[in-house]
Formats: sequence, structure tokens, C-alpha cells
Amino acid sequence: MSYILLTGGAGYIGSHTALELLNAGFKVLSFDNFSNSSDAALKRVEQLSGEPVVSIKGDIRDEAALRQLFSDYNISAVVHFAGLKAVGESTQIPLHYYDNNVAGTVTLCRIMRESGVKKLVFSSSATVYGDAKQVPIPETSPRSATNPYGQSKLMIEHILEDLVQAEPDWGITLLRYFNPVGAHDSGRIGEDPNGIPNNLMPFISQVAVGKREKLSVFGADYPTHDGTGVRDYIHVVDLARGHVKALQYLQQHNGIEAINLGTGTGYSVLDMVNAFSRVNNIAVPYQIAPRRPGDIATCYAEPGKAEKLLGWQAEKTLDDMVRDSWRWQSANPNGYKS
Ligand code: NAD
Ligand code: UFG
Repeated sequence: MSYILLTGGAGYIGSHTALELLNAGFKVLSFDNFSNSSDAALKRVEQLSGEPVVSIKGDIRDEAALRQLFSDYNISAVVHFAGLKAVGESTQIPLHYYDNNVAGTVTLCRIMRESGVKKLVFSSSATVYGDAKQVPIPETSPRSATNPYGQSKLMIEHILEDLVQAEPDWGITLLRYFNPVGAHDSGRIGEDPNGIPNNLMPFISQVAVGKREKLSVFGADYPTHDGTGVRDYIHVVDLARGHVKALQYLQQHNGIEAINLGTGTGYSVLDMVNAFSRVNNIAVPYQIAPRRPGDIATCYAEPGKAEKLLGWQAEKTLDDMVRDSWRWQSANPNGYKS
């Protein structure tokens, strides 16, 4: 039987997807340079599933290593998570982001083509919609980028569209994630950010566990129901299952489709803080702070295309998201080093 190759398989979304793929009967091979993760996540995925994960350390920009990988293993499709994802950092070291994300993807596709593997699921992002004029955001919404990270995702989308245009026997799905949060309900795998978290949910969890004093709420003067920013938070296990569905779809289809993975519901920063406190019965001290540069007021998905094409929709609730985030954080206060 052939493998599904996960680039960046040891990361937050990759490890949860590895588990869902194993549960669905797929064989999983991870290729990760561990720049933002460790092999510990995949060891836990093996424990949870009772199935092996082949984990190879390597970089997607290393053409020789990729060639070796595709010759050593029978690979039927690739889910491409590997990439750098910190918006602020991308404005400081743009060349590194373009090299890692864009050049890395081009190298990966070149070796896939050489090896005759033409099925690809790509981790795109709602960031490609920029500051969308209308919500919920459909896949047809105009695309733009305001920082090198977003630009790298947009460039990759264009590159993959051009590739399918030139070679229609490829099957590619661009999954545009909204805001992934939560963790597997075992509390054994979850998000393990380096240093101070940029994203809301890991920050809330670290305040709750006592690692940080209080949350800064970036702006309370947005045109939203309580003045704080609204996003489409999606449970990472729902998101992971979307990848299983996308791979099953690609078994039957060529061409390229962009598909939103979101719930279609927006929650504000204070909605998230309040849900976390209520469900977990724990205080989350916060202060209102100035807006964060580059942030938008409101962003949530029109999720109908995923249901129509993939037969997928998010099933987990806001309470599941905050409960599972806290279960992971409280059981692993120092992430995989705990
Ligand atoms: P993550 O950092 O946990 O996972 C990415 C993985 O890729 C890490 O394990 C890292 O070590 C690996 N990696 C990075 N560069 C590599 C390289 N050159 N070669 C091999 N491995 C490399 O991030 P995540 O949250 O799991 O995100 C996965 C993907 O989804 C990324 O492409 C990210 O941009 C995208 N995405 C994430 C979010 C989010 O909020 N988490 C939202 C939208 C899109
Ligand atoms: N926020 C705070 N305090 C914090 C962190 C975040 O108030 O300490 C607020 C933000 O201002 C925003 C909301 O919480 O209103 C969500 O912020 P995140 O940083 O968690 O997520 P973003 O929506 O800003 O960005 C995320 C990913 C990006 C991706 C984007 C796509 O981090 O990689 O979604 O929509 F591009």
C-alpha cells in the first residue's frame, strides 16, 4: 500500500491530520525539518493510533533529499503543510519566508512531477482574502496580501494554478484555513508554539496556566458586536478531517479547487475569553490594548463549497474548542517538553 506524504507532518495541523489519516486507514510518511516542531508529536500520534508513522527529518528545499524520499517510498499523494507562518516575523525576514514557503513549494512540485506523483493538498489560508469587503467570505472573493507571509501563500496559489493550467493531469486542492484552534480530545497532541504566542488561543491558554500574566485584547473599537476582532475559529480535528476528505476527493478528480475550511460563524476575542473561562471554570485576566497593526475587524468563511465538493462540514462546537485547548495546555504546560 502507498503512503500519504505529509510535509511538515510533525507540526500542529500536520500531527492532527496524521492521526485522522491513520484512523481512516491511510499510511503516513512525514517529512519535516523540525524548525517549529519535534518528533515527539509523531510518537504520540503512533501511541494514539496504534499505527506506525514513518518520520524522516529533512527540508523541502533540499532537492536531493526529496528525490531520495520519493525513490525510497511509494507515495500516492502529498499534503503540504511545511512552511513558516508568523505574520510579524515575515515582515522582518521576508527573504527567508519566500525561500522557505515559495521556493520550497516549487522544489517539492518539481520532484513530485519527476516522480509521477500529481495529487497535492496545499495548506493555504484565509489571509489570501486580505481585508474582504463582504462576509461570509466565498472562495471567489478577490485575493490580496498585506505582508510577506500572506504574499507567500498567494504566490503559491498562483504557481499551483499555473501548474494545473499547463499540466491538467495534476489534482490540487488549496485548503484555505480560517483560525485553527483546539487540540485532540485525548490532550496528548496540541499546539506548541515557540516563545510568546502570536495567536489568540495559545495566549489565552498560557495566561490560564499561569505562564503569562494577562491577555492584551488588541483593539475594542472595531465595528463588531463588542468592539473586538471577529474570526472563524475552527477545531483542529475538524480541520484535519477536511484533509482526509480532500484526499478522497482527489482520488476521483483532477484540476484545481480552492476550498474554505471554516465553520461559517464568527466569534469575537471577548467571546473566546468568556467561553474559555465559563467552560473551564478558570479566570483569564485581560486588558484592552491598542489595535495590532495589520489586523482586520471581521473574517469568517462561507463554508458551503467544502460541504458540496468534499461532503465536509465542521462538527465541533466553541465549547469543544476551548475545552480541548485547555485539556492539552493543562496536561502539557511546557508543550512536548512537559
Ligand atoms: P507548524 O509550524 O506547527 O507546522 C509547520 C511544520 O512545517 C513544522 O513542523 C515545521 O518544522 C515544518 N517546516 C517548516 N519549514 C520546513 C521546511 N523548509 N522543510 C520541512 N519542514 C518544514 O504550523 P501549522 O499551524 O501546523 O501550519 C501548517 C500549515 O498551515 C502552514 O503552511 C501554515 O502556513 C498553514 N496555516 C496555518 C494556520 C494557523 O493558524 N495555524 C492558518 C492558515 C494556514
Ligand atoms: N488577538 C488579541 N490578543 C492576542 C492575540 C490575538 O487580541 O494576544 C486578537 C487579534 O487581534 C484578532 C484575533 O485575536 O482579532 C485572532 O488573532 P490571531 O493572531 O489568533 O489570528 P489572525 O486572525 O490574526 O491570524 C490567523 C493566522 C494567520 C492567518 C490568518 C488568516 O495566525 O497565519 O489567521 O485569517 F493568516
